[in-house]
Amino acid sequence: MDIQLQTQLFIDGQFVDSANGSTFEVENPAEAAALASVAEAKEADIDRAVRAARAAFDSDAWQRLPARERGRLLHRLADLAEADIDALARIETLQNGKPYFESRHIDLPEAIAVLRYYAGWADKIQGETLPAADGMFNDTRREPLGVVGAIVPWNFPLLLAVWKIAPALACGNTVVLKPAEETPLTALKLAELAARAGFPAGAINVVPGFGPSAGGALVRHPGVDKIAFTGSTEVGREIMRAASESLKPVSLELGGKSPNIVFADADLKAAVRGVTTGIFYGKGEVCAAGSRLFVEAGIHDEFMEQIVDRARKMTPGDPFDKGTRLGALVSKQQLDRVLHYVQAGVSEGAELLTGGVRVDRPGYFVEAAVFDKVKPEMTIAQEEIFGPVLAGLTFEDVDQAIALGNQTIYGLAAGVWTRDIKKAHRVAHGLRAGTVWVNTFNRYDPTTPFGGYKQSGFGRDLGMHALDGYTQVKSVWIDLS
Ligand code: NAI
Ligand code: MG
Repeated sequence: MDIQLQTQLFIDGQFVDSANGSTFEVENPAEAAALASVAEAKEADIDRAVRAARAAFDSDAWQRLPARERGRLLHRLADLAEADIDALARIETLQNGKPYFESRHIDLPEAIAVLRYYAGWADKIQGETLPAADGMFNDTRREPLGVVGAIVPWNFPLLLAVWKIAPALACGNTVVLKPAEETPLTALKLAELAARAGFPAGAINVVPGFGPSAGGALVRHPGVDKIAFTGSTEVGREIMRAASESLKPVSLELGGKSPNIVFADADLKAAVRGVTTGIFYGKGEVCAAGSRLFVEAGIHDEFMEQIVDRARKMTPGDPFDKGTRLGALVSKQQLDRVLHYVQAGVSEGAELLTGGVRVDRPGYFVEAAVFDKVKPEMTIAQEEIFGPVLAGLTFEDVDQAIALGNQTIYGLAAGVWTRDIKKAHRVAHGLRAGTVWVNTFNRYDPTTPFGGYKQSGFGRDLGMHALDGYTQVKSVWIDLS
């Protein structure tokens, strides 16, 4: 397939070079080879993009656009993405290393579904009339915030961008998107499609660049009204600190160390499948990855054997190969990070049952790793690894399962496997996490809110709950007396 890549910044409806002409290399991690040279946004470019987004927000072209038309633009963008789905999926896999099957049949269809879901919301953002004091008419309006700065990571480059862009635009904001430096190419392609869909110039701007320079400039810019971020907890903290200067609201979707809790009475075949895909899907570079496995003591040995069996079938290899189950990690840095954690697991006394070694081929491949005899306080049970590494622990009863599941600074997601409906509810209610999956894992839907408890962040992506993050409420009083 011949694909036309976009490699310039997208500002005010045009593809342009950066002000000082600087560029950076994007790599194909499955080959450890250069993929594209992309324009690098720095402070001056961010400023230009924010001004364009501000001017677009204030323009008649945007302010007078009926809400229904904003919905229609989002639908048109979805149509164009659908027409180009193979190319978009291909670019996603080339820059991220994930199996093409995942890009083409999961990430892209989900991104398109999210665009359509929020297209439907555009003309349903409404206020209320309130029974305020006698002789007064009081109503509320849900107004957009203005310019939204979206900063997203490399694990689901297009999907997570759409999680922010779609509700932001549906609510009537304009957007400056900073994709991750590892994976800017599908976001730039989306910008091309947005221009073709008919979005006014400046409504969507895409500015690839590095975290502290490009991302930092966006967070500090006084012309940005809100920051929507997905990424590491460490950077989330930094963003909140920097945003406090201009008192920008932020929504943060951060890291996780999600527990997957398997009771002896579960459908064990389904649980084995759910636990392995829960950690190895997307190479484990998934914020909700079920990276801590808790197995009820009575079934421990038998269950771990089956997990190891399945982990060994997670063949790493060419992401475009149909048989590949595990793609390449996104970068050399991420590979080193994962191998470092495997080492930490071994040296702290956990038992490595399988995997955890680099595959002898070009690119950043590592075999699916399963640890057993992990203790709750060990590094691999506490820190987000963001790779295909499962930490196995055991528990004795429901209360202990809940307590251990909660023994983390994170609270993004959790899984529970049991046939007992009471147990399922007790554990689901007891876990401090934004999402709990019962007898399933890693399920997402545009209608369903997703986000963190504790240090996994705050604010919600998806569903009608995300609309709260992209609107503000104005109360209007009219004296009728
Ligand atoms: P990161 O959090 O540094 O990067 C995410 C995004 O934030 C990127 O677009 C980056 O350019 C931007 N960024 C970085 N520093 C910034 C700053 N000071 N101001 C504004 N924007 C900034 O994540 P990174 O370095 O790619 O990965 C490191 C670790 O973070 C991973 O190993 C993983 O554990 C975790 N992570 C978690 C994610 C999640 O969804 N929970 C996503 C990506 C990484
Ligand atoms: Mg970083």
